[in-house]
Amino acid sequence: MDERIIKSLRDAKRVVVLTGAGVSAESGLPTFRDKQTGLWETFKAEDLATPSAFERDPALVWGWYESRRAAVRAAKPNAGHLAIAAMGDRVPRLTLITQNVDDLHERAGSRAVLHLHGELARPYCEACRRPYVFPDGIPQLPRGGARIEPPRCDTCGARIRPGVVWFGESLPGPTWAAAREAAKDCDVLICAGTSSLVYPAASLPEIAIAAGATTLQINPNPTDLDGSVSVAIRGPSGSVLPQLLAETWDVVSSSGGADYEAVRT
Ligand code: OAD
Repeated sequence: MDERIIKSLRDAKRVVVLTGAGVSAESGLPTFRDKQTGLWETFKAEDLATPSAFERDPALVWGWYESRRAAVRAAKPNAGHLAIAAMGDRVPRLTLITQNVDDLHERAGSRAVLHLHGELARPYCEACRRPYVFPDGIPQLPRGGARIEPPRCDTCGARIRPGVVWFGESLPGPTWAAAREAAKDCDVLICAGTSSLVYPAASLPEIAIAAGATTLQINPNPTDLDGSVSVAIRGPSGSVLPQLLAETWDVVSSSGGADYEAVRT
């Protein structure tokens, strides 16, 4: 592991961790843009993840998000999620910012997670914006198809919509403001499991770099950030993050940690 990162982490007062779909890949949840397996490789985003798609075919869109919610319910946090939660107990201030709409960070023990793209578990009324509370239990999926009519708001009767940010929509204002502020003020930013292609989330590492932070990227594949971060480690976050935790704070790692390489130091 790169000594500069270890020393920076040990000395850091403020750390930001920015995660994307790759961090949940080892829990069995698909990413968006990985070849063959990515959601946007198999589905058309414009049919499922835009306000006009929901307007056109609410049952198709609601059913798709319900099937993703069912997959998240069946998944468990992996060693990467757990390592981030453990880091939160060791640095004076850790801000966890995620683009993920699952709750695996919370289930791993992280608190006050900033969900830039919303959460599957927090749908709300499309008219009055009151939150909708799902009935307890596993999402009920119909056999032989994924169409489900969205429920109606108890208060105003309008349709309930998924609690995620769609293409063309703004990020939740206070969440975005807190994320920007944390990136501007951090000593170390770790960017894990994201292609860094979707803005404005992808501007957070750029903000941290411009402010002079030490930056680390963890990803098994190259990204456009490779050339600008302090260190890019090629490997899966479920191995690299526990190894980083182990080497920085002498925590016993559950992973062998050998399946990564530093491509830029
Ligand atoms: P992407 O699918 O664009 O990128 C996932 C990244 O994870 C890729 O760079 C992979 O190489 C990497 N990856 C795969 N397996 C990994 C592993 N085991 N460990 C670490 N990294 C791994 O997903 P995001 O960057 O999260 O937005 O996508 C950003 C946004 O685009 C999503 O939040 C979603 C999507 O449209 C909305 O739905 C609003």
